[in-house]
Amino acid sequence: AYTWLYQFPLPIPPVKQPKQTITNPVTNNPIDYYEVTINQFTQQVYPGKGPATLVGYDGISPGPTFIIPRGRETVVRFINNATIENSVHLHGSYSRAPWDGWAEDITQPGEFKDYYYPNSQPGRLLWYHDHAFMHTAENAYYGQAGAYIIHDAAEDALGLPSGYGVYDIPLILSAKQYLNDGSLKTTNGETTSLYGDVIHVNGQPWPFFNVEPRKYRLRFLDAAVSRTFQLYFQRQTGSTAKINFQVIATDAGLMTKPVTTNNLYISIGERYEVIFDFAPFAGQNITLRNSEDVGADDDYLHTDKVMRFVVGSTPVTDASVVPTTLATVNFPRPNGTAVDRSFEFHRSNGEWQINGVVFADINNRVLANVPRGTVEIWELENGGGGWSHPIHVHLVDFRVIYRSDDDDRIVYDYEKFGLKDVVWLAPNEVVRVEAHYAPWDGVYMFHCHNLIHEDHDMMAAFNVTALPD
Ligand code: C2O
Ligand code: CU
Repeated sequence: AYTWLYQFPLPIPPVKQPKQTITNPVTNNPIDYYEVTINQFTQQVYPGKGPATLVGYDGISPGPTFIIPRGRETVVRFINNATIENSVHLHGSYSRAPWDGWAEDITQPGEFKDYYYPNSQPGRLLWYHDHAFMHTAENAYYGQAGAYIIHDAAEDALGLPSGYGVYDIPLILSAKQYLNDGSLKTTNGETTSLYGDVIHVNGQPWPFFNVEPRKYRLRFLDAAVSRTFQLYFQRQTGSTAKINFQVIATDAGLMTKPVTTNNLYISIGERYEVIFDFAPFAGQNITLRNSEDVGADDDYLHTDKVMRFVVGSTPVTDASVVPTTLATVNFPRPNGTAVDRSFEFHRSNGEWQINGVVFADINNRVLANVPRGTVEIWELENGGGGWSHPIHVHLVDFRVIYRSDDDDRIVYDYEKFGLKDVVWLAPNEVVRVEAHYAPWDGVYMFHCHNLIHEDHDMMAAFNVTALPD
């Protein structure tokens, strides 16, 4: 069994092209207009078995990659040609509320919705994925997820490894489970987690990727339903030591400086961008491994493996560089050190709750009214039970300023020198995040990004309130 490990090439999602350019009626700025259909398709994913039925953006999974220069506005029409309701969230974008993928803002089969995105944030890896109330886990798992890259002039001028699919590679991680006929085991009926025994990168189980002996920019996104990874690189033969690499960016883009590490936690919804230099490994194989286990019943023979890089033996010239200073990060200006609000994420009566509330509780689910423009510190507490909860706050980028020191986990350097929009709450942890609640007012969601928890129903809302006249 599993003789096919690392035998299939890494797919690179195609770049999405606009259909036409239209004009913003208010500002007269050009807007690139795109159309994406959501449809069912079949694909043999599990080697040697029958096809799986998937549902994806443009009929592929992951969906096509958007590559947008900072400041170029976009409108994307998502046409629902599937048989299930959907809502699309562009995770990492400060979208206005009507285009943020609110869970009850449902597009029914046969309908479409046009989403407007300003794209004026600093360069970053965002991702678009389904957010339909009670269906997010199922929809993302069956394929509704894709990468969306904003790049900016300052970043482009740094000389980092570049060229989408050439030296700048998206690595979208997921984990799924298959039935004997090669079809997907459904997420329906899962009430705690779906970890998955088959690790995929860009939709392919345990792929390989041919690289040149030089530096690459690897953009990691954990798009799994429930699985957190702890990534490291290792030679296939010889020394088993973990190899150093540089983390250059996280959820909200470049950090102030690169951080060297040999181990990287990435939980669901998080993004980390890494420079890995394959130059010392010409002619060798480098394996990307996972050392995060999720519990005896859900770990399998190969969940400690992710993919393999096959390094060419012909020397190449590599003009790319990793500057010692990367970017000026717009950290929120501290407003004191006091905790403004506290949220406890816990399980009670078979429900996943935030401060005792579930999203379906429409009269109580707005847990905070935050005056627009204020900086607040939120304390996020894991209410126990051995579960972990990656917490995502929509609209804002936050700074992780504190992590209770359980299990030797700290605020890692690679969390500290950039801004994030997801923070992982491991069992028993308490974390504090500081954010500037701007630029828009409106009601936005925050939730656990373990999609089983999110759907049942560990999600609530905050209301960014307008400034007084
Ligand atoms: Cu990545 Cu509210 O989602
Ligand atoms: Cu959770």
